[in-house]
Amino acid sequence: MANQREIILSGIRPTGRLHFGNYFGAIQHFVRLQEQGHGCYYFIADYHALTTISERTDFYRQTIDMLRTYVACGLDPNKSVIYRQSDLPCTAELTLLLGMITNIGFLERGTTYKDKLNKLEETAGTEGNPLSYGLMGYPVLMAADILIVRADKVPVGDDQRQHVEMAMDIAQRFNYRFGQTLKVPAAVSREALRLPGLDGSAKMGKSDHNTLDLLDDPASVLRKLKGVQTSTEPLPLETDSDDPDIVIPLMPASVGILYRLLSLLAPNEVYLDFLGKYRRCERFYGTLKTTLAQYVSAFNAPIIERFNDPANNEESVRTFLRENAERVTPVALETVEACRAAMGIGHSLYRA
Ligand code: TYM
Repeated sequence: MANQREIILSGIRPTGRLHFGNYFGAIQHFVRLQEQGHGCYYFIADYHALTTISERTDFYRQTIDMLRTYVACGLDPNKSVIYRQSDLPCTAELTLLLGMITNIGFLERGTTYKDKLNKLEETAGTEGNPLSYGLMGYPVLMAADILIVRADKVPVGDDQRQHVEMAMDIAQRFNYRFGQTLKVPAAVSREALRLPGLDGSAKMGKSDHNTLDLLDDPASVLRKLKGVQTSTEPLPLETDSDDPDIVIPLMPASVGILYRLLSLLAPNEVYLDFLGKYRRCERFYGTLKTTLAQYVSAFNAPIIERFNDPANNEESVRTFLRENAERVTPVALETVEACRAAMGIGHSLYRA
């Protein structure tokens, strides 16, 4: 049991299959915090998935499959409240209320928004979704997710750090204007991870097609790892340290991802053995990839097995979604009602 029981909240967009970035950046912490006995709320952010939509996408199916993967990774709907964002529609109401005190200039400084804007300018606005009101409001919706359950901590990867800071900021602004109403969550831990992509780019991400997925079978794992670009010469490691955080950034980026995965999945002596080979500039990338592929597939095997367990089916997911939406709704409505009252429109009359 945890020393002090905290409220934990986090979510993942249903953009496809879960990858190793999602797992090591977020899900492993979800499971750890759940097992420590904290009050955990984990959801699938299906409203957020709509912020970049340009044609109908079967987010319902993707949500069900991601929830089956949550369960396969060890998340337990009896220990954590696991739900779908759109089953808690009062989140949209809180988003609206928080939007009233959020400046456009503040949202324009959001890095996700700026990246999308830059990409759109590069393609002269001819592709994808034009920057929508919904996309710009992404951090406000995310703030509502966090603030609605009065979260103390938000376990996320390093890429979501700014969004959590924006939620802290919005809560502080609300409390300053209308009196102490919202719980301000803690900032994201300094150790939060950002796993690079298999192409050596800074971040593994679904839309960049550079992911290693939790449901990849051994053949796909081997194919993906063999495809990692390793023709570059080893760069000299100007350090005696073996610490992955120190040595890996000194390697060519695409080689670094192999070592990062090895450090996460293999016993330390295996990682150190390959680090030695790197230092001695031996010819070893072939064996590094096949060894790593074995560790990745061994990691994936029980997840794939639990994903395919007949008991982990659509019906069981729908049942716990219904039950858990009922558990989170009263907590969420209390926050929305408190914000309505604080802003002066008063409590909802039909919900009373
Ligand atoms: P999303 O769906 O992009 O990612 C889900 C989680 O996985 C982490 N992650 C990574 N961590 C390390 N390295 C990577 N390469 C990597 N790729 C993804 C993300 O940091 C995240 O923790 N906006 C959120 C979803 C969201 C949310 C929230 C999260 C909506 N509302 C409220 C927390 C609280 C998102 O798009 O995550």
